[in-house]
Amino acid sequence: MTDKYAVFGNPIAQSKSPFIHTEFARQTQQDVSYEAILAPVDQFSQSLMAFFKAGGKGANVTAPFKEQAFAACDELSDLAKLAGAVNTLIYLSDGRIRGDNTDGIGLVNDVMQHFGDIKNKRILLIGAGGAARGCLKPLLESQAEVTICNRTYAKAQTLQAISTGYGKVNAKSIDDLNEAFDIVINSTSAGLAGELIKLPKQIIGANTCCYDMSYGASTTLFNQWAVNNGAKSVVDGLGMLVGQAAQSFYIWRGVMPATQTLHDTLRAQLK
Ligand code: ATR
Repeated sequence: MTDKYAVFGNPIAQSKSPFIHTEFARQTQQDVSYEAILAPVDQFSQSLMAFFKAGGKGANVTAPFKEQAFAACDELSDLAKLAGAVNTLIYLSDGRIRGDNTDGIGLVNDVMQHFGDIKNKRILLIGAGGAARGCLKPLLESQAEVTICNRTYAKAQTLQAISTGYGKVNAKSIDDLNEAFDIVINSTSAGLAGELIKLPKQIIGANTCCYDMSYGASTTLFNQWAVNNGAKSVVDGLGMLVGQAAQSFYIWRGVMPATQTLHDTLRAQLK
């Protein structure tokens, strides 16, 4: 029998997850269906439970429901606990819901694929919202030295406080940034609104690699800024998208799909 999965969000029409997971299922010969479900903003948990009661085995969750998904879980992975957000749900056979978060692993795997091992690398993480919080544990467990900065400094301090104990992490105000980093990661939503974050150009040196969690048909605003200021290389977040999906698929099915060809297909579709 076909096992049912879905992604919940609002809006959801733009989601590439149905395409990605259908392709993973085909490639690994798993009998899986995967649909996009538009949940009303005030009825996420009702929509989710209706899907599970109708036989759904698991779900992905995207904006704006990742925190509500976290709250809906009976059981959480350590990654989800620190992230405070869930993007992967499993409907357990006893009717309980387990939550996980694969965004950070998707990010770290893609960063390492492009820029090499991040152990002892000095990483500047820009932003202190859900996207930044979701990737802190995997970054710190890879033994990177993480500096968090954010337009609203207090939020960077909060992220530092909750992740102390996982590794080397400190918060800095944007105005105090005065040195080049090995890797700069943009987790903010500024680009989505067509805005450029105000950053000192000293954070970019001749060997600095930059990663924007956003992606698009052309170079993102942040990556364009980084190139203009001399970054060695820039990468956007398409690989993170595919990587988090692969990790979710693995959690559900116990099989890790290959991602490179699919990544190339999605890149071609964007253009
Ligand atoms: P997400 O879940 O995508 O991380 P979020 O939790 O709303 O979304 O967080 C958005 C992040 O982008 C925040 O760090 C926000 O900075 P503030 O905490 O100061 O609001 C950041 N951000 C959004 N627009 C920005 C802009 N124009 N310049 C700088 N930072 C911006």
